[in-house]
Amino acid sequence: MKIAVAGTGYVGLVTGVCLAENGHSVTCVDIDDRKVALMKAGVSPIYEPGLEELMVSNMERLDFTTDYKGAYRNADVIFIGVGTPEKSDGSANLSYVYGVAEQIAASIEKDCVVVVKSTVPIGTNDKIEGLIKSNLKNNVNVYVASNPEFLAQGTAVRDTLHTSRIVIGVEDKIPGNILKEVYNNFNAPIVVTNRKSAEMIKYASNDFLALKISFINEIANLCEIIGANIEDVAHGMGYDNRIGNKFLNAGIGYGGSCFPKDTKALHWLANFHDYELRTVKAAIDVNENQKLKLIKKSRKYFDSLKGLNVAVLGLTFKPGTDDLREAPTLVNIPLMLEDGANVKAWDPVGIENFKKVHPEDVTYCYSIEETLKDADICFIFTEWDQVKHFDLTNYSKLMKNPIVIDGRNCYDLESVKDATMVYDSIGRETIHNLEVSLI
Ligand code: UDX
Repeated sequence: MKIAVAGTGYVGLVTGVCLAENGHSVTCVDIDDRKVALMKAGVSPIYEPGLEELMVSNMERLDFTTDYKGAYRNADVIFIGVGTPEKSDGSANLSYVYGVAEQIAASIEKDCVVVVKSTVPIGTNDKIEGLIKSNLKNNVNVYVASNPEFLAQGTAVRDTLHTSRIVIGVEDKIPGNILKEVYNNFNAPIVVTNRKSAEMIKYASNDFLALKISFINEIANLCEIIGANIEDVAHGMGYDNRIGNKFLNAGIGYGGSCFPKDTKALHWLANFHDYELRTVKAAIDVNENQKLKLIKKSRKYFDSLKGLNVAVLGLTFKPGTDDLREAPTLVNIPLMLEDGANVKAWDPVGIENFKKVHPEDVTYCYSIEETLKDADICFIFTEWDQVKHFDLTNYSKLMKNPIVIDGRNCYDLESVKDATMVYDSIGRETIHNLEVSLI
């Protein structure tokens, strides 16, 4: 099938490449010449494990262009995978999606299905259909279908090729059947609904996961107070398959391009319809607080970070990505700097992006050892493997004060018990193995 994909971010590019892998001929459209040139040369403009390899091996079925007219003109199916970033009031900014819809209307010369992959508020597919139909330049039939993605960064290719489900939201049998054909080679359950339900499936799924994380974070906070261990608690809960053992990792809250945005967007939408989504609101509030947890913990050891050497391990919102969107470090590092700390930071892939926000006030290091050298305190923000496998004895060898505040529970408490350090993590007992008490 001849497919065009609008947008080459995480959603668009991964979708395009995975559809090419399944035998379709795919043209990916982006407005950025530089990105298009990179992709034409077989280079992925985003860091996503396995993506570039898959792109290169499917080059004969892939094309990249800024010429949207040429790409949309004769496409059987056009996927919209452009961003829907958060506006200052929490609602979703749909200007990119609507912009693409107008371009599609101006370009198509034959019947086609427009598939909305971007996460859009409930009812947006109807608006897209209206917009396209009222701007059509040629006499053709257009069907709009909602087909949300469920990919997580770092595992986007696997999540797409082996998706847990394919949700197709349509108002007509024709686009439903065409989409089933597009996904013919995918081995996943297909859920066909109306468009609004499909749009809601995406938001409800993400918001439920966000709620699960905020719930376990609150339980972790309580565990710290009463002396229980969150990992044992989560382990014990997870055997109940109504609860499940995934997404029960306590930490410093969720970040990334989806959960923060999608919780706020659904809450905004409910408010707009005079309904208060109280559970989602609670997830958002808990997460905002949780992001500040490490700085609050540091007050147990130092009244202020002024003049202290602070080591930061991990900058991205999670491992396996260089994405900084809504990363807790974006809130915490400015607070440390305001406090007067000398901040040294390490991340295996996130430094270049972080430099764009903090070009000069942070010292960037290219090894964990260099970051820890003479540090008074260390904060772990991302559970990179390099951190998880770091030899614990190095903390006391390298740091001035081996105080490690871990927002991602990277170490087993048993292994920390033999190391000379203060180890303060989330929802677990603090291990204090220093001879001299700093507290
Ligand atoms: C998420 C969803 O998983 C995906 O299905 C959706 O399509 C897009 O949003 P992503 O944002 O890439 O994907 O990352 P994910 O792995 O879900 O993690 C999101 C955030 O939650 C990260 O900051 C992560 O550290 C945090 N998290 C996740 C926890 O704090 N605890 C957990 O148990 C799981």
